[in-house]
Amino acid sequence: MRKLFAVPLGLAGAGAATFGYASVIERNWFRLRRFEVPVLPPGRPSVKILHLSDAHLTPNRGRLIHWVRSLDALEPDLVVNTGDSLGHRDAIGPFLDALGPLLDRPGVFVFGSNDLYSPVFRNPLRYIWRTSQADYGKRRREPDLPYRELASSLQAAGWLDLNNRIGRLKTGGLDIEFGGIDDSHINRDRYDKIAGPVDPQADVHLGVMHSPEPRNLDRFAADGYDLLLAGHTHGGQVCVPFYGALATNCGIDRPRVKGLHRHAGAWLHVSAGLGTSPTAPVRFCCPPEASLLTLVSRPTA
Ligand SMILES: [Fe+2]
Repeated sequence: MRKLFAVPLGLAGAGAATFGYASVIERNWFRLRRFEVPVLPPGRPSVKILHLSDAHLTPNRGRLIHWVRSLDALEPDLVVNTGDSLGHRDAIGPFLDALGPLLDRPGVFVFGSNDLYSPVFRNPLRYIWRTSQADYGKRRREPDLPYRELASSLQAAGWLDLNNRIGRLKTGGLDIEFGGIDDSHINRDRYDKIAGPVDPQADVHLGVMHSPEPRNLDRFAADGYDLLLAGHTHGGQVCVPFYGALATNCGIDRPRVKGLHRHAGAWLHVSAGLGTSPTAPVRFCCPPEASLLTLVSRPTA
């Protein structure tokens, strides 16, 4: 009789331990990833970009808030937030608190779907056979999160709203041109509004979006953007050891689910993000992260 129960009890115990690790330990095991990106003309000073994404913040996530605040010590020249910042209707104050001193630095942002819509529980395994884009169909309710207040709070700090907009700012001795789009995952992207070749007078050109959808990446690259920044994938969030992500939840391929890669003539950085949806509070083999991208000169031929 003992043998009969040993296997199922063992499996249940291993499952509970794995869930505990994924929800308590790895979900709070924040990592800073560093990359060098050779996109600047020769002779320009290098600049540091802090890329934040997918905080999905709820007011009780004290460790996340504390860790993000600590990133100001990196002294970035620019902060880029690629959306899905909110996970609760009362999260704007805690999110601004997390940014803290980073708000005194130049910054830009776009929205992700979760800045507009509060989380709804669904089977998380569905990402394996389809993306969550179908969840935002005709029957989806009106936006119920205060995304406009989020935008005005960030703009009040001087950050540029890049949702279907061009932007420009000078920082770290560089003249940077931006093109940004709203979230393609909920069909709010309007690339036509920003379409056109980049300004060659700018030192570098950054494309900013939430979801790294290839049809938009193609257009950014064709217009001459040097570096494209996105989030959304959560790096797969629950990954298989020695295999990686099971799904990307958008059109990007699995090998580029996170990290620094090429797309046509451009560089592409996809952040695995800081958080998780409150309805799927686990990460496995894919720790939460922020990235520090140091832009350096292109090698001379
Ligand atoms: Fe997200």
